[in-house]
Amino acid sequence: MFNAEDTKKRVGAYAADFIENGMTVGLGTGSTVYWLLQTLGERVQQGLQFSAVPTSRQTQTLATELGITLTELNAVNELVLTIDGADEVDARLQLIKGGGGALLQEKMVAAASKQLIIIVDENKMVDTLGKFPLPVEVIPSGWKQVHRKVMGMGCTKAAIRQKNEQAFITDNGHYILDCYFEQITDPVNLNIALHLVPGVVETGLFNGMADMVITGHSDGRIDTK
Ligand code: 5RP
Repeated sequence: MFNAEDTKKRVGAYAADFIENGMTVGLGTGSTVYWLLQTLGERVQQGLQFSAVPTSRQTQTLATELGITLTELNAVNELVLTIDGADEVDARLQLIKGGGGALLQEKMVAAASKQLIIIVDENKMVDTLGKFPLPVEVIPSGWKQVHRKVMGMGCTKAAIRQKNEQAFITDNGHYILDCYFEQITDPVNLNIALHLVPGVVETGLFNGMADMVITGHSDGRIDTK
């Protein structure tokens, strides 16, 4: 049996095989992507050449330390693929992302990619999205108005994410409103409704974006959907 960290490590290493010489790719954020980056760093030392658009300062810093060549989203037309983690994945490969607070750039980079590959451990697979609170990135000066509107959309509780007893600030200078819906039965329409609320910058609902999900299991299996 593999523990959660070992499973993330194995999934990250497995996904590294999708990155080939000459590609320009997107690199996600989080503790599973951490292991992808470690493997890619080793391969760069062995001669792999590719460039990458990072989805967060965290990934930018780590990738730089590992010798991975970075570029910017504005400097590319299209990315061959992006590899990223997720907080929840349902059977239709709809996702909740943003547990690490990088959802805005993650969605922009994913949208610029021909293929989005998601790497998760089996605990992230769910029948219905919503147990994990949905991260919604909001403009700080208007978050209370967003909160009011979200509470009228079936959300049972919503709170500004905290770090060190202060509001967590995203890489783009916004707040994250973590929204508890319990069950999100219609993520497509919820995403549309949230985007109509002034002050909402982006939501953690990634509908119809994932092309492949690589799942690591505690018994050592890795499967792809
Ligand atoms: C960051 C994300 C991450 O991909 C998501 O939170 C999963 O992270 P981890 O692999 O650490 O569980 O969306 O904004």
